[in-house]
Amino acid sequence: MIIALTGFMGSGKSSVGKDLSTLLGLPVVDLDRYIEQRSGFRIPEIFAASGESAFRDLETAALRELLFEGTSPEPSFILSLGGGAIVRKENAEMIREKCTCIFLRASEETLRLRLRGEQSGRPLLKGGGFEALLEERTPLYTAAADFIIDTDTLTPMQIAGVIANLIS
Ligand code: S3P
Repeated sequence: MIIALTGFMGSGKSSVGKDLSTLLGLPVVDLDRYIEQRSGFRIPEIFAASGESAFRDLETAALRELLFEGTSPEPSFILSLGGGAIVRKENAEMIREKCTCIFLRASEETLRLRLRGEQSGRPLLKGGGFEALLEERTPLYTAAADFIIDTDTLTPMQIAGVIANLIS
């Protein structure tokens, strides 16, 4: 089983992925870190040097490798997606086909609080656009998801516990 975690930047995908990995004893792959290792560049460097569309190409290629070409550490694993990974139809289809997808939903207020001071590693938050992006993506996260969890009042380990129950 491949458990994919989706949601907006700041929704806790990476932290929940780590805690879920501990809870289930499965390896976790963070898609952004995988792209960085594969390309040799940090995400902001990729955006700055080549733009968003080049980053999306790397994201699609990374998903194809992990989900269809067996580059994951084990056949069953947890995949923490980047916040925009479900935007391309092709990516969403790969995720729907191969993964049990969990949308970590958080309110705008929670996301704003969590993202305060974290703009530097997230090129898409530079120069605003937060609200429009959230509005545009919420239906896409919802459509990609097998399960939706409202995370506002939960710790990453509590969310991991909810996921473990849902998939058991
Ligand atoms: C992005 C989210 C980031 C990263 C990149 C683009 C997005 O991941 O993939 O900066 O389009 O929302 P996180 O959601 O882990 O911050």
